[in-house]
Amino acid sequence: MNPAGAGSRQPLADAGAAAAPYDAIAVPYQRSRESPIRRYIESYSFLGLLGDVRDRSVLDLACGEGFYTRRIHRRGARRVLGVDISAAMIRLAREQLEEGSAQPEYLVCDVQDLPDLGSFDIATAAYLLHYARDVGELGRMCRSIARQLPPGGRLVAINENPGQPEAGYAGYLRYGFSKSVAAPRGEGSPITYAMISGRELFRFVVYYYERATYEAALAAAGFSEVRWHPLQLDPAGLAAMGAEYWSEYLANPPVVGLTARRTG
Ligand SMILES: C[S@@+](CC[C@H](N)C(=O)[O-])C[C@H]1O[C@@H](n2cnc3c(N)ncnc32)[C@H](O)[C@@H]1O
Repeated sequence: MNPAGAGSRQPLADAGAAAAPYDAIAVPYQRSRESPIRRYIESYSFLGLLGDVRDRSVLDLACGEGFYTRRIHRRGARRVLGVDISAAMIRLAREQLEEGSAQPEYLVCDVQDLPDLGSFDIATAAYLLHYARDVGELGRMCRSIARQLPPGGRLVAINENPGQPEAGYAGYLRYGFSKSVAAPRGEGSPITYAMISGRELFRFVVYYYERATYEAALAAAGFSEVRWHPLQLDPAGLAAMGAEYWSEYLANPPVVGLTARRTG
């Protein structure tokens, strides 16, 4: 399949430029998956929102190095296809073979430019929509996702938390990252995350949009039942690290769950 997608909006050179920041952080990002936050809050919440995937087909968008793609595969999905704009991320994903002969499928593609990939029961988007650099890109992502789902198909996402006050972008250093935005925060403001992975510091930028902006983009693309879900702490994480460890994160969550359903 054409990596840029048939009818791609951007020439390949530009698609490569758009992927460059993610190519550069592929390896440190892969290492960060072992952090307590990812294990005890993010994965627990995301997989909880996803629910039973046995015999379902799942399109894992912004799959990165396949962290969730592999978990969805292991949970018995009939088909799972991971898509990411970064060739370096997809290379890492393909290197990590699952037991047995059946493997997740992977595709390098900008979600804005997805070709018709077939009909999926569920689309997942763990950290995708906030990478839209403006409202036009957000709309294109939402429409492109909707095209891959039948009526009733679900979108399950984790995203930048639009409900978090700007003054709250602090207090995460004990968790190995920082989050900052230039004041005054407005629609499309770049938010910079800096993360420690091993001995390396890496940064990436996402964009701020209000809840109403996400909801309008999803509604215009043909989604309804848009719901925001506070992330939950796995009881095993409470037992392992104690309540005090989690208090600052849970009092001021930087990310949030998001689900929606494709209307008929
Ligand atoms: C923070 S990583 C999340 C990876 C994976 N979902 C996870 O949770 O481990 C975000 C990913 O989004 C990808 N991405 C950003 N914009 C994208 C786009 N327009 N289309 C496809 N992937 C995109 C990046 O390449 C990166 O791999």
